[in-house]
Amino acid sequence: MSSTVRPLNVKSDPRLSGRAVKRVAFDEAAIATRVSELGKEISAAYPDGDLLVLGLLKGSFIFLSDLVRQITRPLQVDFLVATSYGDGMVSSGTVNLVYDPETELAGKDILLVEDIVDSGRTLNRLMGILKERRPRSLEICALLHKRIAEGLKFETKFVGFDAPNEFLVGYGLDHAENFRHLPYIASLQ
Ligand code: PRP
Repeated sequence: MSSTVRPLNVKSDPRLSGRAVKRVAFDEAAIATRVSELGKEISAAYPDGDLLVLGLLKGSFIFLSDLVRQITRPLQVDFLVATSYGDGMVSSGTVNLVYDPETELAGKDILLVEDIVDSGRTLNRLMGILKERRPRSLEICALLHKRIAEGLKFETKFVGFDAPNEFLVGYGLDHAENFRHLPYIASLQ
C-alpha cells in the first residue's frame, strides 16, 4: 500500500510545538484500517499453538497495543528493548539490547513487532538472538518498511505500509524522544 500525501496545518497541532513537518505520510484513518487488516491476517495465519507477540520498544508501543486488539485468538505479550539511533536522525549502527523478554520462547510461535524497518540492522541482530532460543516459529510484523535495507537476512511476513525514505515521526516513532504521541505518521523537514 502506498503513502498518501495530505497537507498539514502545523499551527493547528500543538503537539508539534512549532516543528515543521513536510507532510503527513499516513493519517489516523489509514493506519486504523491497515492495522485492522493486519490483525485479520495474523489471526488467520496462526490457527493453533501458543502465540507470543513480542513488541520491540520503544517504537512499537502504540502499534502493538492497537494490533493485539485486532487479533482474535489467544496470545501473550512481552517486550524487547533495543536502541540504535540515540538522538540522531541516522542509525548509530550499533544495536543494544537493553531488556530481554522474561517469557520462555522455546516451542512458541513468536511474532516480533516492529514500528519500522529502516537499515535492517535491528532485525538482523535481534532475529539472531531470538532464533537461538528455539521458538516453534519466528516471524516479523512491521507497520512500516522502507525497502532500502541491504543485507537484511529476514523476510518481514506482515507489513503495514511501504514507507517513503524520509525521517518519520508519530504513532510511536520519535525524533530525540519527541513526537511519539502523534496519532498520525509525518515526515520532518
Ligand atoms: C528504531 C525503530 C526500529 C529501528 C529501525 O528504533 O523503532 O526499531 O530503529 O531501524 P533499523 O532498521 O535501521 O535498525 P530506535 O533504535 O530508534 O529505538 P526506539 O524504538 O526506542 O525509538
